Amino acid sequence: MKILYVASESTPFAASGGLADVIGSLPAALKNQNPEDDIRVIMPLYGTMDAAWREKLTFLTSRTVALNWRNQYCGVFSAVYRNVTYYFIDNEYYFKRGALYGEFDDGERFAFFCRAVVELLPDLDFFPDVLHAHDWQAALAVIYLKRKYGFMEGYSSIRTVFTIHNIQYQGKFGLDSLSDVFDLMPSDHEIVEYGGCINLMKGAIICADKVTTVSPTYAEEILSPKFSHGLDPILKMFKGKLSGILNGIDRDYYSPSKNTELPASFHVNKMAGKAVCKAELQRSVGLPVDPDKPVVAMITRLVDSKGLDLLTLAADDLLQENVQLILLGKGDFYYEDYFWHLAERHPENCRVLLRFDQTLAKQIYAGADIFLMPSRTEPCGLAQMICSRYGTVPVIHETGGLYDSIKDAGCEGGGNGYTFASYSAWDMLCALRNALNCYADKAAWKKLVRRVMLTDFSWDVSAGKYTELYRSI
Ligand code: GLC
Repeated sequence: MKILYVASESTPFAASGGLADVIGSLPAALKNQNPEDDIRVIMPLYGTMDAAWREKLTFLTSRTVALNWRNQYCGVFSAVYRNVTYYFIDNEYYFKRGALYGEFDDGERFAFFCRAVVELLPDLDFFPDVLHAHDWQAALAVIYLKRKYGFMEGYSSIRTVFTIHNIQYQGKFGLDSLSDVFDLMPSDHEIVEYGGCINLMKGAIICADKVTTVSPTYAEEILSPKFSHGLDPILKMFKGKLSGILNGIDRDYYSPSKNTELPASFHVNKMAGKAVCKAELQRSVGLPVDPDKPVVAMITRLVDSKGLDLLTLAADDLLQENVQLILLGKGDFYYEDYFWHLAERHPENCRVLLRFDQTLAKQIYAGADIFLMPSRTEPCGLAQMICSRYGTVPVIHETGGLYDSIKDAGCEGGGNGYTFASYSAWDMLCALRNALNCYADKAAWKKLVRRVMLTDFSWDVSAGKYTELYRSI
C-alpha cells in the first residue's frame, strides 16, 4: 500500500501540540509493521524549523500553484526521518512567520498547502492508495480530491481518511472566501457551508471515505452536543464511517533508560535512577529536596479545556497537604496570572514555570511522583501515557482518551492510575488523596508504579488498526 499523510505539523520539524507527536511517530510505526508499504508525509516548511534540520533538507522540485487568481511559488524539499520520507512545501510568504497558526490569513495559507499537496502528486510520481489528512489545516486536501480531482487519471483511485485530533478547531471562515480564497465552486457551497460560514472540518467529514478520531470514547462523545462544538448533527449523519483509534507514544523518544536529558537513567527493573531524577528536579526548581514528599506535576497548555478551573478551586487545599506541586506550561493570561500568584502564596511547596520547555518537561515526567490531568475534554491526551513511561502515576478525569487509557487502581489496586468521573474539584481532590494515600504505603506504591510502567502505550496495536482501516477502503 502507498499512504500519504497530510498534516500541518510533525516532530521533530515543527510542533505546537500532540498532533506533531502523532505525525512524527505513527508513520514510522506503520513502516515498522509493514516494511513493504510506502508511507510518506507532507507538511509545510516553516521558517521556525530548527537550523540543524533545515540544513539536512534536499531540494526536489518547484512549480507554480494556482489558487483562483493567485499563482504562487511552491518549492518541495524532503528529508528521511525514521525510514519515512517527509516532504516540505516551501513558500516563504505563507510559512516564514513567527508562529505555525493564528495568522490573519490562516485560511489562505492552508488552502495553498492543500492545493500544493494535490497538485504535486504527479511531480513526486506518487499517487497514494490512501491519503490520510489530519485536522482542519489538511481538510481541503480531502475536499479538493473529492470535488475537483476525483475524475482525473491517477487521482480517481485515491481513497481518503480524515482524522479529527480536536473537534474544537474546525477551520471556520466567512462565506465570501468560498471562491476567492478556497477556489471552490458555488456547487461546493453545500459541502463546506455550516452555520452560516465555511467549515472545512465539516467538508472533510462529508468527503472522506473514513473519519477517525484519536480514541474510541471521544468518537462516542463527539456525537453529542456537549462535546461536538456544533458538529454532532453532521457526525451522526455519517456515523457509519466514524471510528476511534487510540494514539500511542514513541517509546524511544520517551525513554527513561535512553533519554540523555535526564540526570540518571532508570527502567522498570532498576528504579534507583528515578530517585536521583526527583532530587535533581526538586533542586533545579528550588523546592526542598525531600525524597518522602510526593511531587505532583502538571505539564499543559494553560487553556480552559485542560481542567484548570478545577485546579484553581482546589489548589490552595491541595497545597495544605504534605505535597509539592510543579506546573509547567503557558497559555491564557487568566491562568498564567492565577498560577503565578498561587506560587507566590505557597513558596515552600509550589513552583510554576510559565513556558514550553521540552527538556524540562522530560525532567518533570521523570522526577515527579504523580501527574495530574483533569481535562474537561481530551480527544486522546498523550501526557498520561508519557508520564506512565517514567513511572509517574497519572490522576485523570474520565473523559475521551484519558478514560480509554487509565483505569482507577481502586482498593484492589488493579488499575494504572487514579481517576474521577464527575467534573468537580472535590472529586479531583478525592482522586488525588487516593493517590497520596497509596504513596504513603511504600510497598503498595512500588507495585502501582511497576504496573503503570508496564502498561503498553506503544503504537503496536493502534498501527495495526490503521492498517486494517486502510485495507478496508
Ligand atoms: C490534540 C488533542 C489531544 C491528542 C492530540 C494527538 O492535541 O487535543 O488530546 O492527544 O491531538 O492526537
